[in-house]
Amino acid sequence: MAEVGGSYHPTLTKQQEDELQSVVAKILVSGKGILAADETTEILGSKLSALNLENSEVNRRKYRQLLFTTPNFGENISGVILVEETYNQKANNGERFVDLLRKQGIVPGIKVDTGIVPLPGTLGEGTTQGLDDLGKRCAEYKKGGCEFAKLRCALTVGPHTPSHLALLENAHVLGRYASVCQQNGLVPIVEPDVMRDGDHDLERCQKVTEQALAYTYKALADYHVFLEGTLLKTNMVTPGQNCSKKYTSEEIGHATVVALRRGVPVAVPGIVFLSGGLSEIDATKYLNASNQVKLLKPWVLSFSFGRALQATVLKEWQGKDENLKKAQKLFLQRAKANGDAQLGKYEGEEASAAAIESLFITKYTY
Ligand code: 13P
Repeated sequence: MAEVGGSYHPTLTKQQEDELQSVVAKILVSGKGILAADETTEILGSKLSALNLENSEVNRRKYRQLLFTTPNFGENISGVILVEETYNQKANNGERFVDLLRKQGIVPGIKVDTGIVPLPGTLGEGTTQGLDDLGKRCAEYKKGGCEFAKLRCALTVGPHTPSHLALLENAHVLGRYASVCQQNGLVPIVEPDVMRDGDHDLERCQKVTEQALAYTYKALADYHVFLEGTLLKTNMVTPGQNCSKKYTSEEIGHATVVALRRGVPVAVPGIVFLSGGLSEIDATKYLNASNQVKLLKPWVLSFSFGRALQATVLKEWQGKDENLKKAQKLFLQRAKANGDAQLGKYEGEEASAAAIESLFITKYTY
């Protein structure tokens, strides 16, 4: 490695950089996005309980198998985020889920955060844990077939939040996480999530999102993160869940792209939005509107939805084998709609009542 002046010592070889970029290229494919199937046992459990299903490993495995064995879902899904439990599980045929995904040309990734804890000295804000043994875990996940990782930091919007401390601390967590991932050959999905809790308007969400992005990319620069080998996962700019003012998809798309243009370096290849409790249809419409904004957008704008790809699927399944095919059909429909929105070519669809239902959960932990 060549010596450089100053205090910085390069840590990635050209080969490592190329490898990270090749993973990014496999994820950022036209008309495709990411399925976030990384709900914690508790969160997936609450969804199973709502269907009167036991929150058992058997049921969680069965549900995820439904998703990963949907015929041709790779036509609109290029990557899947797993949790550790699923990473270790196998399909009915004895094949590891990780291998089953890879065989279909879908890149497996893994959630590496271990939850949010309170940040003392703030008005109820938090920070994300999971850094301590991260290097070791990343090396193991890489060996086990994962090619990217995700760590989410959450910011709350209030009259006095997010605070400077919360913005700084969470950005630093993301910076160190991203650097450790890259050292271990995993593409980091960097996720600052400005949550939708609150009655703030679109302008306030835009401002906070711009701040969160500025802090995040300052930290990534401080940690010498190779931006071309990362992806950003963030919120679309929307009003708070309890905001009384309504906005059009075009206004939301415009605010989203303006915030991204102000805060995301051109070197970042792609932005994969979270759905944040939006209804399935709204999430798709806003992604489509963002892609239609007539401003220079030097990154791919895609999706990494959890709730907005799965809510109607789960409801249809109800834990019953006889509903499996219909549930998989709904999954394909959502994946296709979002694939179209990724291209800015979504033309609307006949939506079920479930698909327009808000999926918002207060202080969602994921
Ligand atoms: P939602 O799309 O349900 O917000 O979740 C995506 C995610 O992975 C949040 O970390």
